[in-house]
Amino acid sequence: MNISVIGTGYVGLTTGAILSNVGHKVYCIDIDENKLNTIKSGKSYFYEPGLDDFVQKGIDSGNLIPTNKYDEAIENSEIGLICVGTPEKKDGSFDLSYIFAAVDELLKYADNEFIIVTKSTVPVGTSNKINKIVQLSGKSCPVLFCPEFLAEGSAVFDTLNIDRFVIGGKEESAKLKLVNLFKSIDEYAKSLDMLQLQGVAKIYKKKLEIHSKTDFKERVINIGLESAELIKVTANAFLTIKISFANAIARICDKTEADINEVMDGVGMDSRIGRDFLYAGLGWGGGCFPKDVSGLISYAKEQGYDFRLLREVDRVNSDQPEYVAEKLRIMLGGTLEEKAVSIWGLSFKPGTSDIRKSQSLKLIKVLVDKGVKQILAYDPKAIDEAKKSLERYEIPAEKIEFMDSIEASVENANALVLATDWPEFMQVDFGSLKSSFKELNVLDARNRLDGDKLREFGYTYEAVGR
Ligand code: UGA
Repeated sequence: MNISVIGTGYVGLTTGAILSNVGHKVYCIDIDENKLNTIKSGKSYFYEPGLDDFVQKGIDSGNLIPTNKYDEAIENSEIGLICVGTPEKKDGSFDLSYIFAAVDELLKYADNEFIIVTKSTVPVGTSNKINKIVQLSGKSCPVLFCPEFLAEGSAVFDTLNIDRFVIGGKEESAKLKLVNLFKSIDEYAKSLDMLQLQGVAKIYKKKLEIHSKTDFKERVINIGLESAELIKVTANAFLTIKISFANAIARICDKTEADINEVMDGVGMDSRIGRDFLYAGLGWGGGCFPKDVSGLISYAKEQGYDFRLLREVDRVNSDQPEYVAEKLRIMLGGTLEEKAVSIWGLSFKPGTSDIRKSQSLKLIKVLVDKGVKQILAYDPKAIDEAKKSLERYEIPAEKIEFMDSIEASVENANALVLATDWPEFMQVDFGSLKSSFKELNVLDARNRLDGDKLREFGYTYEAVGR
């Protein structure tokens, strides 16, 4: 098939690159020349494990065509996947201007059979608005909504192992075409060494089982536009409820002898609840959860419903950096002033260089406001992104020094905070590293380190709810 993908972000580039490896011809449309040039050179312009390989092969085969020309792409395609950003506006609602601009542009060149598919996350009713724009243009293109569930850091793995394929819309023949397109990924994935890719996404191991045991068509959820739109934001909002709930229970654990990891292991064994996304720590961030939660609160408000449950979930999350900073203050004898603090991890989660709404950077801001003299920051991939974003997080540049190794980051620090749980931090030999530390204080804000072992080595160890 010939396809156009509009927007080359995490969703667009990953989907486009993989579809091009399956054998489809994929035009990846973007307005940013720099991004297009990087993709043309066979690389992704953002860090995503495993993605470069697919981009390189797509470019080499000629099947992946990065372009800013809508006319050539749309005239030669049967399907257009809209994967542009829907950022948060100042009032918390979704900014849909990129979506509508893409629709206007592609309608200039689309014929009546051209299938318009939105993959970007949108509020309920957006696809119906697109339908109206199509009608006004005098065309009759089918309009579908097909939410994306991939997570950053495991985008390639998730795209190859689709656990559910939600498809909203009315036109059954258009839907069938789209199902067949994604079924081709499913079949292609069977020929790949998934164990290698699974390494970066252990939490999603269950997907492999679903993939091998159920036929693709059994994973298809064929419904109306508005249900499909609501599934996406509801899924993300529910995951934030789980995380904030774990963080709230962690507060109770901190007042008792209970350990949040043990509590959630026990709770999560109930298959109705599940263990995933019950990891307490510094809270949730990224380009999706914060925007989707605000978007849903704001949409509910527009409909006359005050979504207090979700507002509280958001508040628990906003308080988390403050809570961790307070723990550190107590750990350091009652004051943060004049202290140097090493921070491990700057990205919003491991496996990505993305620092959007990063709880780690929010923690740094809180620490600096409370008088910390110097932050010594280390991250395996996100340092460049963090450097560019200090202003956005209101962190004075002179307060933060970016270090090029784990060892260097702790040398002059009064304490270390594990802020993002990159796997390399869990592999650190704290016994050997002891001699590098200025003071042996470790605050594990992601609850991932072996506290008993660290205490045996002589460290003062604190965590969240343990
Ligand atoms: C999320 C969803 O997981 C995807 O299914 C969805 O497709 C995507 O948003 C999207 O809407 O595009 P992502 O933002 O990449 O994916 O990251 P997650 O792995 O969900 O993590 C989000 C945040 O929650 C991170 O800051 C992470 O550290 C935090 N988290 C996650 C916890 O604090 N505890 C947990 O138990 C799990």
